[in-house]
Formats: sequence, C-alpha cells, structure tokens
Amino acid sequence: MTESAVRRVVLVGFMGAGKTSVGRALAAQLGWRFFDLDHEIVSRSGRSIRDWFSDPGESAFRREEASVAQELLSEDEIVLATGGGWATERGRLSRLDASTLSVWLEVDAEESLRRVGRDVTERPLMSRDMGVQTARGLLESRRTAYALASLRVDTNGKSVEDVTSHIIEILELSVVKTEPQ
Ligand code: S3P
Repeated sequence: MTESAVRRVVLVGFMGAGKTSVGRALAAQLGWRFFDLDHEIVSRSGRSIRDWFSDPGESAFRREEASVAQELLSEDEIVLATGGGWATERGRLSRLDASTLSVWLEVDAEESLRRVGRDVTERPLMSRDMGVQTARGLLESRRTAYALASLRVDTNGKSVEDVTSHIIEILELSVVKTEPQ
C-alpha cells in the first residue's frame, strides 16, 4: 500500500491571524520542523523587517521572501508561517503542489488590530494609530488571494489550541491510502 499525504503545511493570512503561534503549535503536535518566514529572513540577512522596508525597500523584501519561501517549501515535514504579504503574489498559492496544504487563517480587521496591539515594530505596514478602516482596506485588497488557499479556518474568537486541533483533524482526513495499480 502506498500513502499519498500532505508533507508540508503553509499558513497564510493577514497580520495578527496567528500564523506564527498556530504554526509553532501545529509543528510541535506533528513532530515536524517549524519555520517562520520573517524570522528566517531576519536571521539570514541580519537585517530587521523594518530595515528591509526602508532600505533596500519593500520590492527587495518581497524578492527575498519569495526566494527563502521557495527554498523552505522544498523540504518535507515542515510547517511554514508566511508573512501576510507572501500569498498575495499572483499564482503563488495555485502553484503549490498537492503535497503542500495551504491554510488561510482568517481574522477580521478589528481582531487583527487587537492582537497586534502596539507590537508594530516589525510590521512596517501597520502603525500604532492605524484605524480599523485602513486595516480593513488592506485586508479586503488581499482577501481574494488568501481565498485561494486549500483550507480556510476562521480564527476570530478562537484560541491557538482550537485552530491547531482543527487543522490536525483535517490533516488526519487528508491521508489518502491507495493500493498500487
Ligand atoms: C507583512 C506582514 C508581516 C511582515 C511584513 C509585511 C504584510 O508579517 O512580513 O511586515 O505585507 O502583511 P506578519 O503577517 O507575520 O505580521
């Protein structure tokens, strides 16, 4: 009997969706390695996200983000928490192969701002006094891209544990066992 199953999970969604917290918990439960894309970029380059955005600029950051993610997504048994902009590039989620489960952690603008709070240091697209309307505008402009993920999980009002166990249930169901022809 051969087993065709998910070998990696990539978490996408807006800032404050809980990608890092859920990703870490999910990886621990699966016994897989966890990578946070922003963290990888910062530790490899020695440059903070805020510095990337100011010089060399957001386009250079996006290129680095694309290349580091591509490298990490060639590994097996990993959970990758992406930054909120990674999935918004055209074709990015639709190009993932069947062994990669993409999960959109959905959060509304109010909850995103509440969760991020004043912790905007490494989020140059947010500011301490960012209003709900501005956050909602950015989120809405990205919704169609996030919606291309294979799975959508509403995180509003849910704990990291709730969201993680929901994804684990789906993963258990997605293990398809097939007899060789
Ligand atoms: C960004 C989200 C951030 C970080 C950068 C840009 C975005 O990551 O990659 O500030 O474009 O939404 P988080 O989603 O982990 O906050």
